Amino acid sequence: MTRFDPISGAIGEAQPAKRHLADLRGCFRDTGAFERALAHDNRLVYTVAAVEPAAGEGDLHYGLGVIYPGLVGDEYFLTKGHLHTWRAAAELYIGIAGEGLMLLEDEVTRENRLVPLQPNGVVYVPGHTAHRTVNTSDVPLTYLGVYPARAGHDYGAIAERNFRSVVINRNGKPHLLERN
Ligand code: F6R
Ligand code: ZN
Repeated sequence: MTRFDPISGAIGEAQPAKRHLADLRGCFRDTGAFERALAHDNRLVYTVAAVEPAAGEGDLHYGLGVIYPGLVGDEYFLTKGHLHTWRAAAELYIGIAGEGLMLLEDEVTRENRLVPLQPNGVVYVPGHTAHRTVNTSDVPLTYLGVYPARAGHDYGAIAERNFRSVVINRNGKPHLLERN
């Protein structure tokens, strides 16, 4: 059994990797708001700690993510997002605390959808699907991700073309908007 701490973001022996605003350049739609927020304070946006027991075919890896509440302009704090290097690899996300959304975008058709991520809820992310997690609440959003050991993380494709849509706060509620 591996224990995790939903507050600190620690799981097992794994040290959480920290992602600050400066690591998220290019992710948010409102670049002016991003630069102003960064100049004010390079805030911690999320942490992720991965447990990698073995890396053979058939093995699983899993990670604990904690996204802190916050906004850049009207856009909620989010993860970088990625595709799996092994494109066919699916993933399960299990909500632990807080409320948020997963933005899922098919790599080929670029169709996208929002799926709630909340305690006692499981989100199935199919293969060939870019996934980004967004905290829409005012408390930390904590979740577990479980994925094939050989999935790998490809951030390059997202860095190049980003997600088609953004999740913004409009009158206190999340809305999906085309980025452009
Ligand atoms: C693993 C996975 C999650 C993310 C975590 C942080 O395949 O999807 O554990 O790694 O939500 O997001 P990224 O990796 O996009 O910075
Ligand atoms: Zn993933």
